[in-house]
Amino acid sequence: MNYNSDSDAAVDANAGLNLVTGAFGYTGRYIARRLLDMGQPVRTLTGRAIAGNAGGDPFGGRVEAFPFNFDRPEALVESLREVDTLYNTYWVRFSSGPVTFDRAVENSRTLIRAAESAGVRRLVHISITNPSAESPLPYFRGKGLVEQAIRESGLSYAIIRPALIFGRGDVLLNNIAWLLRRFPVFAVAGSGQYLVQPVDVADLAEMAIAAGPGQDNTIADAVGPETYTFDELVRLVAATVGRQARIIHVAPSMALLLSRLLGLLVRDVVLTREEIDGLSANLLTSAGPPQCPTRLSHWLAENGSDLGAAYASELGRHYRERN
Ligand SMILES: NC(=O)c1ccc[n+]([C@@H]2O[C@H](COP(=O)([O-])OP(=O)(O)OC[C@H]3O[C@@H](n4cnc5c(N)ncnc54)[C@H](OP(=O)(O)O)[C@@H]3O)[C@@H](O)[C@H]2O)c1
Repeated sequence: MNYNSDSDAAVDANAGLNLVTGAFGYTGRYIARRLLDMGQPVRTLTGRAIAGNAGGDPFGGRVEAFPFNFDRPEALVESLREVDTLYNTYWVRFSSGPVTFDRAVENSRTLIRAAESAGVRRLVHISITNPSAESPLPYFRGKGLVEQAIRESGLSYAIIRPALIFGRGDVLLNNIAWLLRRFPVFAVAGSGQYLVQPVDVADLAEMAIAAGPGQDNTIADAVGPETYTFDELVRLVAATVGRQARIIHVAPSMALLLSRLLGLLVRDVVLTREEIDGLSANLLTSAGPPQCPTRLSHWLAENGSDLGAAYASELGRHYRERN
């Protein structure tokens, strides 16, 4: 699937209006692309500059864009008017300056209230595997609190909980490949025996869109059919890009230190302490059966040859490229 390709599908005037937060981002872009391919109208909310945004508009103007307006709830309600289904991917990967997890939870609550006020029929919300309002990890706790707000809202909802999402445009696997291409040794935090169940971003988009027309309130994990230890994942990516992976295991504090040093080089936050803790606690796995068919190993064999050719910067995407 080419997430940048343009579609010839005509817009179905009878299809309800979709709003995809993050349509110019990663997961939201796949959801928006698929909806457009189905001939459905798509609107987005974004933090990017709307006219001529530096991230580029991959949809040639076919997605109507509004600012998030979290600080202007009445304007946010207006941008949600006439929306039938809200696909919500909004979240932050780490706290940086005023963009904290607490702020992201508050913004999400504002969005949920605005959707209720605007009469949105259905919310399809992208969460994460194993969220918990009691989690000591702010990312997973914040996700748990947002899910709680959705359950307590009057909206019809489908909550979808992906594990690690792979596909063109991803950050983590791409940057593992980038490191493997450039360094002879790869440092893994802790034992490297913790598990991940990667899910294809296109499968996730299909699953989200399939949940759009429904009415029942549902919560489902979204994981692919393969489970890897982190060491196995690194070896698979190494084989894909034709490198030997000389893995060394280091204490999490050392992995964090190394990632900070690397962060100075690439001007990014490469890895956070809580990402290490979340991975180590096997939180990117599901207790249930896989819902999504695409195998990471197959996807890498077909699409992985240029994986990691360029570094994917989180700060670049969500901070520096905003104007
Ligand atoms: N990526 C994964 O492997 C993974 C795994 C499990 C769960 N998830 C969940 O899947 C959803 C989508 O993730 P993604 O990786 O596809 O995200 P993304 O496209 O990079 O961002 C999703 C949305 O959040 C906004 N956003 C992200 N960081 C922000 C920041 N620092 N400040 C302000 N707005 C910010 C984006 O704004 P713009 O519209 O302005 O770009 C976009 O609307 C999230 O809810 C995430 O928690 C992701």
